[in-house]
Amino acid sequence: MEIKIFDSNEQLDAFAADYLVNIVREKPNAVLGLATGSTPVGIYAKIVEQYKSGEVSFKDATTFNLDEYVGLQSDNDQSYAYYMNEHLFSHIDLPASRAHLPNGMGEQLEAECENYDRMLQAQPVDVQLLGLGHNGHIGFNEPDGSLSGGTHVVKLKQETLEANARFFASMDDVPKQAVTMGVGSILKANTILLVVRGADKADIVKQALTGPITTEVPASLLQTHARVVVLLDLEAGRKLEL
Ligand code: F6R
Repeated sequence: MEIKIFDSNEQLDAFAADYLVNIVREKPNAVLGLATGSTPVGIYAKIVEQYKSGEVSFKDATTFNLDEYVGLQSDNDQSYAYYMNEHLFSHIDLPASRAHLPNGMGEQLEAECENYDRMLQAQPVDVQLLGLGHNGHIGFNEPDGSLSGGTHVVKLKQETLEANARFFASMDDVPKQAVTMGVGSILKANTILLVVRGADKADIVKQALTGPITTEVPASLLQTHARVVVLLDLEAGRKLEL
């Protein structure tokens, strides 16, 4: 595991964007695994800048997102599809047909999950970008006594529903389920780029990277992967003894 700590978020964003862009430059048909949330926003902005200045094209690339809510249309501004369009897809030349997100609107969610895993198996991810939840989750794989390997439907915990309520008109509108790649699918990526920022994640960074490997901290399973690059800001990395 390679751990890099950056003095500023600007430097972290630039490094992560260069990392992803270089993969696509070297292998134009690269497969990128992408994440949503606040962590990658600045990274996507830098990728868009590089695309606009002609440094990279995504016309032959493919992307797979980690997760999506169940029951939100892609034009709902809380859906991850909307987020991806807003921050990345609508600004670059990636063909829409190769920008994949789990389908949370499918009639048969189990079949949708199997289909997503089949696509991932046929087009293995070259590099998977990951953020980290305060409880150690990756994707929507929450701490539990056991974890799922493949893409699956998750019932969101009450604490997540309450945290999400602020983005919706009422509690009834908050999605109760999501579809997520499983930890097994995530670990199949050739390289994993884990990005974490902020003092509020310093404890979980330490646990995930140096604590026991346990399903109660899903990100700790990344310790079993041969090629993980961790990018931290000073605050997120301050509890690590390097
Ligand atoms: C997002 C995802 C989540 C986030 C994590 C951190 O697609 O899968 O695991 O990466 O919740 O979220 P932020 O970046 O908002 O702190």
